[in-house]
Amino acid sequence: MSDRILIFDTTLRDGEQSPGCSMNLSEKVNLARQLERLGVDVIEAGFPIASDGDFESVKAVAKEVRGPIICGLARTGEADVERAAQALDGARAPRIHTFIATSDIHLEHKLRMSREQVREEVERAVTQARGYVDDVEFSAEDATRSDPDYLVEIFSVALEAGARTLNVPDTVGYTTPDEYATLIATLIERIPDSSRAVFSVHCHNDLGLAVANSLAAVRAGARQIECTVNGIGERAGNTSMEEVVMALRTRPQVCGGADTGIQTQEIYPSSRMLSSITGVSVQPNKAIVGENAFAHEAGIHQDGVLKAAITYEIMTPESIGRTSNELVLGKHSGRHAFADRLEELGLEIEGEEFQRAFKRFKDLADSKKVVYDEDLEAIVADSSISTEDRFALESLAIQSGSEGRARASVQLKVDGVPRETTATGVGPVDAVFKAISDLTETESELERYQVHAVTAGLDAQGEVSVTISEAGRSVVGHGAHEDVLVASGKAYVHALNKLEWHRKRKPVEEPRGI
Ligand code: KIV
Ligand code: ZN
Repeated sequence: MSDRILIFDTTLRDGEQSPGCSMNLSEKVNLARQLERLGVDVIEAGFPIASDGDFESVKAVAKEVRGPIICGLARTGEADVERAAQALDGARAPRIHTFIATSDIHLEHKLRMSREQVREEVERAVTQARGYVDDVEFSAEDATRSDPDYLVEIFSVALEAGARTLNVPDTVGYTTPDEYATLIATLIERIPDSSRAVFSVHCHNDLGLAVANSLAAVRAGARQIECTVNGIGERAGNTSMEEVVMALRTRPQVCGGADTGIQTQEIYPSSRMLSSITGVSVQPNKAIVGENAFAHEAGIHQDGVLKAAITYEIMTPESIGRTSNELVLGKHSGRHAFADRLEELGLEIEGEEFQRAFKRFKDLADSKKVVYDEDLEAIVADSSISTEDRFALESLAIQSGSEGRARASVQLKVDGVPRETTATGVGPVDAVFKAISDLTETESELERYQVHAVTAGLDAQGEVSVTISEAGRSVVGHGAHEDVLVASGKAYVHALNKLEWHRKRKPVEEPRGI
């Protein structure tokens, strides 16, 4: 058995299903490019039949990202599989991932199908998918609550029909490491010709065991791990990519020497990029990528680390791409130095976006003593331009103080046409948001408003995340600026543009079924 573990990244599909983590097309393509730099083997780019937006995103990722296998999800229905194949047409290495539930709980209450009907569906869908592509993955949803004898039967049918990856999802995060390892070993042992398939694991974190379960499954013979950056995903999330990859890299012998092809120094940039796109930061004590993951607070620990890092550090911050982050660029630095640093950070922008980012950098370098890598990430996230944006913030002016109501005058372009208004509010943010809401005539609700300093120091940029919702869909917008009110206006406009993008793309009528 090979020691190489395939990393199947589902940040753009299962991850995107977590509240507030929806992304638009250009954000998905940018993240997919970063996943390619990270070295993942498979990118699950979306669920093409779920909405026109999902379809377009899978298509765009398939066209733009040529290294990894690009995968599209499909239920076993004929239309689902066909739509996935259409979205993947143009991919260098396409994979169709089809799934259906196999537990009696799901068969009885959700699908209202017999075991025999599900068996026929699997055979039909895998055969149909193989008619479009060579690389087909089959998942038995809720596998860990399914009858193991029935799982052996279903996976044997899928293998016989041409699926070469058999995925065993712990859909509801119910299993435990020993139990999961036994299930994987049983399947490998009992499915005829099982060596023709790669066994894959897909764990949810409801009991906080997703990473432990995935590692136990690897010990039992699984060779593909499905995971997400920062562990985002339905409910408590999916297996965290950075945790499972670093566990394998740091303790190779525990899993019999198994390892991934991940470029670990790209882990931290990937985590930061995802947080900056979604506006959802990781908790400070999150393993590997949290703010405190490498911080030694206790005196006795600091003393030990200064004498020899190995005393309290099991891996180095550099190994996951957390470098000393002071940028030795100032207001006299030129375009080349700026572009070089962006390239080192994996932040690829060009054309008009680059010009805007460079101007923001110069302005910031004028007003701030030191510019950090985090500042650059915020600038780049903030300079991204989408030709589809309906609204553009032009300027704002605010009057506020300890007495009376705050007043904000805002200038926006709506579909390229300049518009201006003044509004009052209980505070300056309220006044800015009321003015923007009047100009855009939005009916969305404001759900969450968060500000945090990008770096330390009183001259730090403020990074604002705004979550708004309309008709059951919530989106997050973000903006960064030295003036938190300007950052707030930008974040709100960014969120409104995302909502517009989703509104234009019709979702499917039926529920997603996962
Ligand atoms: O959790 C799950 O079962 C899934 C499947 C579609 C693989 O996400
Ligand atoms: Zn899942």
